Amino acid sequence: MATDLPSGDEKVAAVRSMFDSIAPRYDLVNRIMTFGLDVRWRRRALRDLRLPPRTTVLDLASGTGDFCRELERAGIRVVGMDLSLGMLQNARTDAPLVQADVLRLPVPDHGVDGVTCGFALRNLVDLQPFLAELARAVRPGGRIALLEVGEPTNPILRWGHHLYFGRIVPLIGGLLSDPAAYRYLPRSVAYLPDPDVLVQMIRDAGFGDATRTLLAPGAAQLLVGTRDG
Ligand SMILES: C[S@@+](CC[C@H](N)C(=O)[O-])C[C@H]1O[C@@H](n2cnc3c(N)ncnc32)[C@H](O)[C@@H]1O
Repeated sequence: MATDLPSGDEKVAAVRSMFDSIAPRYDLVNRIMTFGLDVRWRRRALRDLRLPPRTTVLDLASGTGDFCRELERAGIRVVGMDLSLGMLQNARTDAPLVQADVLRLPVPDHGVDGVTCGFALRNLVDLQPFLAELARAVRPGGRIALLEVGEPTNPILRWGHHLYFGRIVPLIGGLLSDPAAYRYLPRSVAYLPDPDVLVQMIRDAGFGDATRTLLAPGAAQLLVGTRDG
């Protein structure tokens, strides 16, 4: 990991203030920089979550509520949780929203049927305690679907992806929003473990059937799993 990236409490404070600052234009920049694919990726995650209507799901790091809206549309009872008040204030969803750190979920043991989380793993101080919280909060047989940025396996696509994510995205984000935040975005990928390690961490946490799927064109990855019985 790059040594000049923040860690511990410094990272929590930096992440919160960064998302507070980009919140008003977060949706606009997101749609432009993913060409609207992020909407498709969340729908795919919801499909693979495989939970029926009237189940209860926490959408963690819910941001401006994109996942919450998809879950509500599917008839799922969803509660959104996020650290950044700015993101919560800019959310467009009817779901109840709570300001909370996802490393300390305000829910009872095995209290929910599932968890979704979009593009937030690399923003967390530590992944292992987060996964342990998921295992505590989700009932046996419940499901999780975690979306995160990915990297294409095809070398040409990977080269194009690095160019786009490393150069064009900071440019677009800098013009429309906060330049420092969108310079940090591609660099924050360095916080993510290798894909195989990440899947194993999820399995070890209590989701033994966890799998990873790279979503077209490889710029996103979807991690799903069932809470062990
Ligand atoms: C890239 S945004 C993703 C928002 C939304 N899930 C989406 O799919 O568009 C990452 C979100 O994670 C939130 N976040 C980061 N660390 C967090 C933490 N420890 N607890 C709760 N939310 C956190 C940020 O405030 C931000 O809203």
